[in-house]
Amino acid sequence: MDYLQIEGNHNLSGSVTISGAKNAALPLIAMTILAKNSVLLGNLPNVVDVRVLIKLLVMLGANSIDKDKNTIEINTNDINNTKVVYDIVRKMRASILLLGPLLARFGKCQVSLPGGCAIGARPVDLHIKAMQNMGAKIQIKNGYINATAPKGLKGSNIIFDKITVTGTENVIMAATLAKGKTTIINPAKEPEVIQLCDVLKQNGVDISGQGSDEITIIGTDGELINIADISIIPDRIEAGTYLCAGAITNSTITIKNIIPKHLEAILNKLKEIGFNINIDKDSITIFKSKELNAFELTTSEYPGFPTDMQAQFMALATQCKGVSTIKERLFENRFMHVNELQRLGANISLLGNVANINGKTNLIGADVMATDLRASSALVLAGLVASGETKIHRIYHLDRGYEKIEDKLSKIGVHIKRFKNDRV
Ligand code: UD1
Repeated sequence: MDYLQIEGNHNLSGSVTISGAKNAALPLIAMTILAKNSVLLGNLPNVVDVRVLIKLLVMLGANSIDKDKNTIEINTNDINNTKVVYDIVRKMRASILLLGPLLARFGKCQVSLPGGCAIGARPVDLHIKAMQNMGAKIQIKNGYINATAPKGLKGSNIIFDKITVTGTENVIMAATLAKGKTTIINPAKEPEVIQLCDVLKQNGVDISGQGSDEITIIGTDGELINIADISIIPDRIEAGTYLCAGAITNSTITIKNIIPKHLEAILNKLKEIGFNINIDKDSITIFKSKELNAFELTTSEYPGFPTDMQAQFMALATQCKGVSTIKERLFENRFMHVNELQRLGANISLLGNVANINGKTNLIGADVMATDLRASSALVLAGLVASGETKIHRIYHLDRGYEKIEDKLSKIGVHIKRFKNDRV
Protein backbone atom coordinates (compact mmCIF):
# COMPACT_ATOMS: atom_id res chain seq x y z
CA MET A 1 0.00 0.00 0.00
CA ASP A 2 1.25 3.49 -0.82
CA TYR A 3 1.88 6.18 1.74
CA LEU A 4 2.44 9.92 1.48
CA GLN A 5 5.26 11.78 3.16
CA ILE A 6 4.88 15.51 3.73
CA GLU A 7 7.49 17.90 5.01
CA GLY A 8 5.60 20.62 6.85
CA ASN A 9 5.92 24.37 7.29
CA HIS A 10 6.40 25.57 3.74
CA ASN A 11 4.57 28.56 2.34
CA LEU A 12 2.33 27.85 -0.62
CA SER A 13 1.68 29.95 -3.72
CA GLY A 14 0.28 29.63 -7.23
CA SER A 15 -2.84 27.96 -8.52
CA VAL A 16 -4.59 24.60 -8.61
CA THR A 17 -6.98 23.44 -11.35
CA ILE A 18 -9.95 21.61 -9.89
CA SER A 19 -11.15 18.32 -11.44
CA GLY A 20 -14.68 17.21 -12.21
CA ALA A 21 -16.86 16.25 -9.25
CA LYS A 22 -16.72 12.61 -8.20
CA ASN A 23 -20.21 12.84 -6.68
CA ALA A 24 -21.64 14.25 -9.92
CA ALA A 25 -19.78 11.71 -12.07
CA LEU A 26 -21.10 8.66 -10.19
CA PRO A 27 -24.86 9.25 -10.77
CA LEU A 28 -24.19 10.33 -14.36
CA ILE A 29 -22.31 7.09 -15.02
CA ALA A 30 -25.27 5.17 -13.52
CA MET A 31 -27.62 7.25 -15.70
CA THR A 32 -26.02 5.86 -18.88
CA ILE A 33 -28.20 2.78 -18.19
CA LEU A 34 -31.19 4.92 -19.24
CA ALA A 35 -29.60 5.84 -22.58
CA LYS A 36 -30.26 4.30 -25.97
CA ASN A 37 -26.99 5.71 -27.38
CA SER A 38 -23.30 5.79 -26.42
CA VAL A 39 -22.82 8.56 -23.85
CA LEU A 40 -19.71 10.74 -23.79
CA LEU A 41 -18.75 11.98 -20.33
CA GLY A 42 -16.13 14.75 -20.19
CA ASN A 43 -14.30 16.45 -17.29
CA LEU A 44 -14.47 13.06 -15.61
CA PRO A 45 -12.25 12.88 -12.54
CA ASN A 46 -9.73 10.09 -12.90
CA VAL A 47 -10.20 8.70 -9.38
CA VAL A 48 -10.68 5.19 -8.03
CA ASP A 49 -14.41 5.48 -7.21
CA VAL A 50 -15.19 6.52 -10.77
CA ARG A 51 -13.06 3.70 -12.19
CA VAL A 52 -14.78 1.20 -9.90
CA LEU A 53 -18.28 2.19 -11.03
CA ILE A 54 -17.27 2.00 -14.70
CA LYS A 55 -15.73 -1.43 -14.06
CA LEU A 56 -18.98 -2.49 -12.43
CA LEU A 57 -20.98 -1.45 -15.50
CA VAL A 58 -18.54 -3.36 -17.71
CA MET A 59 -19.01 -6.43 -15.47
CA LEU A 60 -22.74 -6.16 -16.23
CA GLY A 61 -22.03 -6.17 -19.98
CA ALA A 62 -21.64 -2.46 -20.83
CA ASN A 63 -18.82 -1.20 -23.05
CA SER A 64 -16.56 1.69 -22.21
CA ILE A 65 -13.90 3.43 -24.25
CA ASP A 66 -11.39 5.85 -22.72
CA LYS A 67 -11.24 8.76 -25.18
CA ASP A 68 -8.58 10.47 -23.06
CA LYS A 69 -7.75 10.37 -19.36
CA ASN A 70 -10.75 12.54 -18.45
CA THR A 71 -13.25 11.55 -21.15
CA ILE A 72 -15.05 8.26 -21.52
CA GLU A 73 -17.73 6.86 -23.77
CA ILE A 74 -20.14 4.37 -22.20
CA ASN A 75 -22.61 2.19 -24.07
CA THR A 76 -25.02 0.12 -21.98
CA ASN A 77 -26.91 -1.58 -24.85
CA ASP A 78 -25.31 -4.97 -24.18
CA ILE A 79 -25.99 -5.18 -20.45
CA ASN A 80 -27.01 -8.80 -19.88
CA ASN A 81 -26.53 -9.13 -16.14
CA THR A 82 -28.22 -7.11 -13.38
CA LYS A 83 -26.44 -8.42 -10.29
CA VAL A 84 -24.31 -5.86 -8.46
CA VAL A 85 -21.97 -8.00 -6.39
CA TYR A 86 -20.89 -7.52 -2.78
CA ASP A 87 -17.20 -7.34 -3.59
CA ILE A 88 -17.69 -4.00 -5.37
CA VAL A 89 -20.46 -2.52 -3.19
CA ARG A 90 -18.34 -3.17 -0.09
CA LYS A 91 -15.57 -1.02 -1.63
CA MET A 92 -17.91 1.68 -2.83
CA ARG A 93 -21.25 2.33 -1.25
CA ALA A 94 -22.31 4.55 -4.16
CA SER A 95 -22.83 1.37 -6.24
CA ILE A 96 -26.34 1.56 -4.75
CA LEU A 97 -26.87 4.16 -7.51
CA LEU A 98 -27.39 1.28 -9.96
CA LEU A 99 -30.54 0.09 -8.14
CA GLY A 100 -32.92 2.68 -9.64
CA PRO A 101 -31.73 2.63 -13.28
CA LEU A 102 -31.29 -1.17 -13.49
CA LEU A 103 -34.72 -1.84 -12.01
CA ALA A 104 -36.37 0.79 -14.22
CA ARG A 105 -34.82 -0.55 -17.44
CA PHE A 106 -34.74 -4.32 -16.87
CA GLY A 107 -37.60 -4.80 -14.40
CA LYS A 108 -35.28 -6.65 -12.02
CA CYS A 109 -31.92 -6.43 -10.31
CA GLN A 110 -29.97 -7.70 -7.35
CA VAL A 111 -27.83 -5.20 -5.49
CA SER A 112 -25.70 -6.16 -2.53
CA LEU A 113 -26.43 -4.33 0.71
CA PRO A 114 -23.53 -1.99 1.46
CA GLY A 115 -22.88 -3.33 4.95
CA GLY A 116 -20.88 -1.46 7.60
CA CYS A 117 -19.21 1.77 6.66
CA ALA A 118 -16.39 3.63 8.38
CA ILE A 119 -18.45 6.79 8.91
CA GLY A 120 -21.56 5.28 10.42
CA ALA A 121 -24.38 2.85 9.74
CA ARG A 122 -25.41 4.53 6.45
CA PRO A 123 -28.53 2.45 5.77
CA VAL A 124 -30.29 2.28 2.39
CA ASP A 125 -33.83 1.91 3.76
CA LEU A 126 -35.00 5.13 2.06
CA HIS A 127 -33.84 3.87 -1.35
CA ILE A 128 -35.68 0.58 -0.82
CA LYS A 129 -38.88 2.21 0.44
CA ALA A 130 -38.95 4.56 -2.55
CA MET A 131 -38.60 1.68 -5.04
CA GLN A 132 -41.43 -0.15 -3.23
CA ASN A 133 -43.59 2.96 -3.51
CA MET A 134 -42.95 2.88 -7.24
CA GLY A 135 -44.33 -0.65 -7.40
CA ALA A 136 -41.21 -2.79 -6.99
CA LYS A 137 -41.34 -6.02 -5.00
CA ILE A 138 -38.30 -6.18 -2.77
CA GLN A 139 -36.89 -9.09 -0.84
CA ILE A 140 -33.72 -8.94 1.23
CA LYS A 141 -31.97 -12.29 1.01
CA ASN A 142 -28.38 -13.42 1.52
CA GLY A 143 -27.23 -9.83 1.90
CA TYR A 144 -28.80 -8.75 -1.39
CA ILE A 145 -31.68 -6.45 -2.29
CA ASN A 146 -33.64 -8.55 -4.79
CA ALA A 147 -35.90 -6.14 -6.64
CA THR A 148 -38.46 -6.95 -9.32
CA ALA A 149 -40.98 -4.91 -11.28
CA PRO A 150 -41.92 -7.11 -14.25
CA LYS A 151 -44.48 -4.61 -15.56
CA GLY A 152 -42.18 -1.63 -15.01
CA LEU A 153 -42.16 1.01 -12.29
CA LYS A 154 -45.11 3.35 -11.67
CA GLY A 155 -44.88 7.06 -11.00
CA SER A 156 -45.60 7.81 -7.36
CA ASN A 157 -45.35 10.34 -4.52
CA ILE A 158 -42.07 9.84 -2.70
CA ILE A 159 -41.73 11.67 0.60
CA PHE A 160 -38.22 11.49 2.06
CA ASP A 161 -38.28 11.67 5.89
CA LYS A 162 -34.58 12.45 5.74
CA ILE A 163 -32.76 14.18 2.92
CA THR A 164 -30.64 11.68 1.02
CA VAL A 165 -28.38 12.55 -1.92
CA THR A 166 -27.98 9.16 -3.61
CA GLY A 167 -31.55 8.23 -2.56
CA THR A 168 -32.89 11.26 -4.45
CA GLU A 169 -30.69 10.42 -7.46
CA ASN A 170 -31.92 6.81 -7.49
CA VAL A 171 -35.55 7.93 -7.55
CA ILE A 172 -34.87 10.52 -10.27
CA MET A 173 -33.36 7.82 -12.51
CA ALA A 174 -36.06 5.26 -11.73
CA ALA A 175 -38.83 7.82 -12.31
CA THR A 176 -37.37 8.76 -15.70
CA LEU A 177 -38.35 5.39 -17.19
CA ALA A 178 -41.43 4.82 -14.98
CA LYS A 179 -45.02 5.11 -16.18
CA GLY A 180 -46.65 8.41 -15.15
CA LYS A 181 -45.76 11.18 -12.77
CA THR A 182 -43.39 10.97 -9.80
CA THR A 183 -43.19 13.71 -7.19
CA ILE A 184 -40.22 13.73 -4.83
CA ILE A 185 -40.93 15.69 -1.67
CA ASN A 186 -37.95 16.79 0.44
CA PRO A 187 -35.30 15.88 -2.15
CA ALA A 188 -31.59 16.68 -1.87
CA LYS A 189 -30.57 20.01 -3.43
CA GLU A 190 -26.86 19.32 -3.88
CA PRO A 191 -25.39 20.68 -7.16
CA GLU A 192 -24.63 17.09 -8.17
CA VAL A 193 -28.35 16.22 -7.96
CA ILE A 194 -29.17 19.34 -9.96
CA GLN A 195 -26.72 18.37 -12.71
CA LEU A 196 -28.34 14.94 -13.02
CA CYS A 197 -31.77 16.61 -13.41
CA ASP A 198 -30.43 19.23 -15.83
CA VAL A 199 -28.84 16.58 -18.07
CA LEU A 200 -32.10 14.60 -18.18
CA LYS A 201 -34.11 17.76 -18.90
CA GLN A 202 -31.74 18.90 -21.66
CA ASN A 203 -32.27 15.50 -23.28
CA GLY A 204 -36.04 15.76 -23.34
CA VAL A 205 -37.15 14.31 -20.00
CA ASP A 206 -40.05 16.23 -18.44
CA ILE A 207 -38.49 17.13 -15.11
CA SER A 208 -38.94 20.25 -12.99
CA GLY A 209 -38.42 21.61 -9.49
CA GLN A 210 -34.78 20.57 -9.02
CA GLY A 211 -33.21 22.73 -6.33
CA SER A 212 -36.61 23.25 -4.64
CA ASP A 213 -38.44 21.13 -2.04
CA GLU A 214 -40.36 19.21 -4.70
CA ILE A 215 -39.13 17.58 -7.92
CA THR A 216 -41.63 16.35 -10.52
CA ILE A 217 -40.77 13.86 -13.25
CA ILE A 218 -43.02 12.49 -15.98
CA GLY A 219 -41.67 9.07 -16.92
CA THR A 220 -41.19 7.75 -20.46
CA ASP A 221 -42.88 4.41 -19.72
CA GLY A 222 -39.79 2.39 -20.51
CA GLU A 223 -38.58 4.31 -23.53
CA LEU A 224 -34.82 4.85 -23.39
CA ILE A 225 -33.45 8.35 -23.99
CA ASN A 226 -30.85 9.84 -26.30
CA ILE A 227 -28.22 11.59 -24.23
CA ALA A 228 -25.91 14.24 -25.70
CA ASP A 229 -22.30 14.82 -24.54
CA ILE A 230 -21.94 15.73 -20.87
CA SER A 231 -19.31 17.83 -19.10
CA ILE A 232 -19.17 17.07 -15.38
CA ILE A 233 -19.35 20.05 -12.99
CA PRO A 234 -16.24 20.94 -10.95
CA ASP A 235 -15.70 19.24 -7.59
CA ARG A 236 -16.70 21.70 -4.86
CA ILE A 237 -15.23 19.45 -2.15
CA GLU A 238 -11.85 19.15 -3.88
CA ALA A 239 -11.99 22.95 -4.35
CA GLY A 240 -12.78 23.46 -0.66
CA THR A 241 -9.93 21.16 0.34
CA TYR A 242 -7.38 23.20 -1.67
CA LEU A 243 -8.78 26.44 -0.24
CA CYS A 244 -8.13 24.89 3.18
CA ALA A 245 -4.54 24.12 2.09
CA GLY A 246 -4.11 27.86 1.46
CA ALA A 247 -5.90 28.70 4.72
CA ILE A 248 -4.06 26.32 7.04
CA THR A 249 -0.63 27.44 5.76
CA ASN A 250 -1.86 31.06 5.70
CA SER A 251 -0.76 31.43 2.07
CA THR A 252 -2.25 33.15 -0.95
CA ILE A 253 -3.42 30.61 -3.55
CA THR A 254 -5.92 30.47 -6.42
CA ILE A 255 -8.22 27.65 -7.38
CA LYS A 256 -9.39 27.47 -10.98
CA ASN A 257 -12.17 25.78 -12.96
CA ILE A 258 -14.82 26.05 -10.28
CA ILE A 259 -18.38 27.29 -9.86
CA PRO A 260 -18.10 29.82 -6.98
CA LYS A 261 -21.81 29.59 -6.10
CA HIS A 262 -21.36 25.93 -5.10
CA LEU A 263 -18.77 26.99 -2.51
CA GLU A 264 -20.79 29.67 -0.67
CA ALA A 265 -21.02 27.95 2.74
CA ILE A 266 -17.30 27.11 2.67
CA LEU A 267 -16.31 30.64 1.61
CA ASN A 268 -18.49 32.21 4.31
CA LYS A 269 -16.75 30.11 6.95
CA LEU A 270 -13.30 31.04 5.63
CA LYS A 271 -14.28 34.73 5.72
CA GLU A 272 -15.50 34.31 9.32
CA ILE A 273 -12.08 32.89 10.23
CA GLY A 274 -10.51 36.07 8.86
CA PHE A 275 -9.53 35.39 5.25
CA ASN A 276 -10.03 37.83 2.40
CA ILE A 277 -11.33 36.10 -0.67
CA ASN A 278 -11.54 37.26 -4.26
CA ILE A 279 -14.18 35.60 -6.40
CA ASP A 280 -14.01 35.66 -10.20
CA LYS A 281 -16.27 33.93 -12.72
CA ASP A 282 -14.59 30.52 -12.43
CA SER A 283 -11.73 31.03 -9.99
CA ILE A 284 -11.23 32.04 -6.36
CA THR A 285 -8.16 33.46 -4.60
CA ILE A 286 -7.71 33.16 -0.85
CA PHE A 287 -5.29 35.68 0.66
CA LYS A 288 -3.16 35.24 3.74
CA SER A 289 -4.67 36.75 6.87
CA LYS A 290 -3.25 38.65 9.89
CA GLU A 291 -5.06 36.44 12.36
CA LEU A 292 -7.02 33.17 12.18
CA ASN A 293 -10.04 33.25 14.51
CA ALA A 294 -11.80 30.26 16.08
CA PHE A 295 -15.20 29.41 14.53
CA GLU A 296 -18.34 27.33 14.97
CA LEU A 297 -19.88 25.12 12.35
CA THR A 298 -22.65 22.57 12.00
CA THR A 299 -22.76 20.23 9.01
CA SER A 300 -25.93 20.27 6.99
CA GLU A 301 -27.48 19.39 3.66
CA TYR A 302 -26.78 21.76 0.73
CA PRO A 303 -26.80 24.76 0.75
CA GLY A 304 -25.54 24.35 4.33
CA PHE A 305 -21.98 23.50 5.31
CA PRO A 306 -21.04 20.11 3.75
CA THR A 307 -20.20 17.15 5.94
CA ASP A 308 -17.57 16.29 3.31
CA MET A 309 -15.61 19.42 4.41
CA GLN A 310 -15.93 18.86 8.16
CA ALA A 311 -12.63 16.99 8.67
CA GLN A 312 -10.62 19.54 6.64
CA PHE A 313 -12.03 22.40 8.75
CA MET A 314 -11.12 20.51 11.91
CA ALA A 315 -7.49 20.43 10.73
CA LEU A 316 -7.77 24.17 10.01
CA ALA A 317 -9.23 24.81 13.50
CA THR A 318 -5.95 23.60 15.06
CA GLN A 319 -4.35 26.74 13.60
CA CYS A 320 -7.09 29.18 14.68
CA LYS A 321 -6.84 31.15 17.92
CA GLY A 322 -9.38 30.07 20.56
CA VAL A 323 -11.87 27.22 20.84
CA SER A 324 -13.61 26.18 17.63
CA THR A 325 -16.73 24.00 17.80
CA ILE A 326 -17.72 21.54 15.08
CA LYS A 327 -21.05 19.71 15.19
CA GLU A 328 -21.55 16.76 12.82
CA ARG A 329 -25.26 16.40 12.06
CA LEU A 330 -25.30 13.89 9.20
CA PHE A 331 -23.07 10.94 10.07
CA GLU A 332 -22.78 9.74 13.66
CA ASN A 333 -19.27 8.33 13.40
CA ARG A 334 -17.53 10.84 11.21
CA PHE A 335 -14.85 11.84 13.70
CA MET A 336 -12.27 9.15 13.04
CA HIS A 337 -9.72 11.79 12.08
CA VAL A 338 -9.80 13.15 15.64
CA ASN A 339 -7.47 10.46 17.03
CA GLU A 340 -5.05 10.89 14.16
CA LEU A 341 -5.02 14.70 14.47
CA GLN A 342 -4.33 14.21 18.18
CA ARG A 343 -1.29 12.08 17.25
CA LEU A 344 0.05 15.21 15.55
CA GLY A 345 -0.54 17.19 18.76
CA ALA A 346 -4.00 18.69 18.16
CA ASN A 347 -5.96 19.63 21.26
CA ILE A 348 -9.43 18.23 20.55
CA SER A 349 -12.15 17.03 22.92
CA LEU A 350 -15.11 15.08 21.69
CA LEU A 351 -18.57 14.87 23.24
CA GLY A 352 -21.09 12.91 21.19
CA ASN A 353 -21.31 14.60 17.81
CA VAL A 354 -19.57 17.80 18.92
CA ALA A 355 -15.83 18.41 18.76
CA ASN A 356 -14.09 21.31 20.50
CA ILE A 357 -10.72 22.23 19.06
CA ASN A 358 -8.47 24.41 21.16
CA GLY A 359 -5.95 26.36 19.05
CA LYS A 360 -3.52 27.43 18.00
CA THR A 361 -1.37 24.29 18.37
CA ASN A 362 2.08 23.71 16.97
CA LEU A 363 1.60 20.35 15.30
CA ILE A 364 4.49 17.88 15.13
CA GLY A 365 4.91 15.38 12.28
CA ALA A 366 4.13 11.71 13.00
CA ASP A 367 2.87 8.51 11.33
CA VAL A 368 -0.90 8.70 10.89
CA MET A 369 -3.49 6.54 9.24
CA ALA A 370 -6.20 7.54 6.79
CA THR A 371 -9.60 6.14 7.78
CA ASP A 372 -11.96 7.49 5.15
CA LEU A 373 -11.81 9.75 2.14
CA ARG A 374 -12.26 13.17 3.74
CA ALA A 375 -10.51 12.23 7.00
CA SER A 376 -7.46 11.49 4.85
CA SER A 377 -7.47 14.95 3.33
CA ALA A 378 -7.63 16.45 6.85
CA LEU A 379 -4.41 14.58 7.67
CA VAL A 380 -2.73 15.89 4.53
CA LEU A 381 -3.75 19.43 5.53
CA ALA A 382 -2.44 18.97 9.07
CA GLY A 383 0.82 17.61 7.61
CA LEU A 384 1.28 20.92 5.76
CA VAL A 385 1.77 22.74 9.08
CA ALA A 386 3.29 19.98 11.23
CA SER A 387 6.99 20.42 11.90
CA GLY A 388 9.22 17.72 10.43
CA GLU A 389 7.74 14.83 8.45
CA THR A 390 4.23 13.42 8.50
CA LYS A 391 3.64 10.03 6.93
CA ILE A 392 0.04 9.27 5.95
CA HIS A 393 -0.70 5.58 5.57
CA ARG A 394 -3.62 3.80 3.89
CA ILE A 395 -3.96 6.56 1.32
CA TYR A 396 -6.07 4.37 -0.93
CA HIS A 397 -8.91 6.25 0.77
CA LEU A 398 -7.53 9.50 -0.66
CA ASP A 399 -7.17 8.02 -4.13
CA ARG A 400 -10.91 7.27 -4.15
CA GLY A 401 -11.72 10.96 -4.57
CA TYR A 402 -8.71 13.22 -5.20
CA GLU A 403 -7.19 13.24 -8.67
CA LYS A 404 -3.38 13.64 -8.78
CA ILE A 405 -3.23 15.02 -5.27
CA GLU A 406 0.58 14.99 -4.96
CA ASP A 407 1.05 16.67 -8.35
CA LYS A 408 -1.46 19.39 -7.53
CA LEU A 409 0.01 20.02 -4.06
CA SER A 410 3.62 19.97 -5.33
CA LYS A 411 2.70 22.59 -7.90
CA ILE A 412 1.71 25.05 -5.16
CA GLY A 413 4.86 24.40 -3.12
CA VAL A 414 4.05 21.42 -0.87
CA HIS A 415 6.98 19.07 -0.21
CA ILE A 416 5.18 15.79 -0.74
CA LYS A 417 6.21 12.35 -1.99
CA ARG A 418 4.36 9.10 -2.54
CA PHE A 419 6.09 5.90 -1.49
CA LYS A 420 5.16 2.36 -2.43
CA ASN A 421 5.36 -0.56 0.02
CA ASP A 422 3.59 0.72 3.06
CA ARG A 423 5.05 -1.53 5.74
CA VAL A 424 3.29 0.00 8.76
C1 UD1 B 1 -23.72 11.43 -0.44
C2 UD1 B 1 -22.30 11.71 -0.90
C3 UD1 B 1 -21.36 11.81 0.30
C4 UD1 B 1 -21.88 12.84 1.30
C5 UD1 B 1 -23.35 12.58 1.66
C6 UD1 B 1 -23.95 13.68 2.51
C7 UD1 B 1 -22.24 10.64 -3.06
C8 UD1 B 1 -21.75 9.53 -3.90
N1 UD1 B 1 -21.91 10.62 -1.77
O1 UD1 B 1 -23.72 10.19 0.23
O2 UD1 B 1 -20.07 12.20 -0.18
O3 UD1 B 1 -21.11 12.77 2.48
O4 UD1 B 1 -24.15 12.47 0.45
O5 UD1 B 1 -23.82 14.91 1.87
O6 UD1 B 1 -22.90 11.54 -3.55
N2 UD1 B 1 -29.82 7.75 5.25
C9 UD1 B 1 -30.73 6.86 5.80
N3 UD1 B 1 -31.34 5.94 4.97
C10 UD1 B 1 -31.06 5.91 3.63
C11 UD1 B 1 -30.15 6.82 3.08
C12 UD1 B 1 -29.55 7.73 3.92
O7 UD1 B 1 -30.99 6.87 7.00
O8 UD1 B 1 -31.66 5.05 2.93
C13 UD1 B 1 -29.15 8.72 6.14
C14 UD1 B 1 -27.64 8.52 6.20
O9 UD1 B 1 -27.27 7.53 7.14
C15 UD1 B 1 -27.17 9.91 6.59
C16 UD1 B 1 -28.16 10.82 5.85
O10 UD1 B 1 -29.29 10.00 5.57
O11 UD1 B 1 -27.30 10.12 7.97
C17 UD1 B 1 -27.64 11.42 4.57
O12 UD1 B 1 -27.06 10.39 3.76
P1 UD1 B 1 -27.09 10.46 2.18
O13 UD1 B 1 -27.40 11.84 1.71
O14 UD1 B 1 -27.95 9.35 1.67
O15 UD1 B 1 -25.58 10.14 1.82
P2 UD1 B 1 -25.10 9.42 0.51
O16 UD1 B 1 -26.04 9.69 -0.59
O17 UD1 B 1 -24.71 8.03 0.81
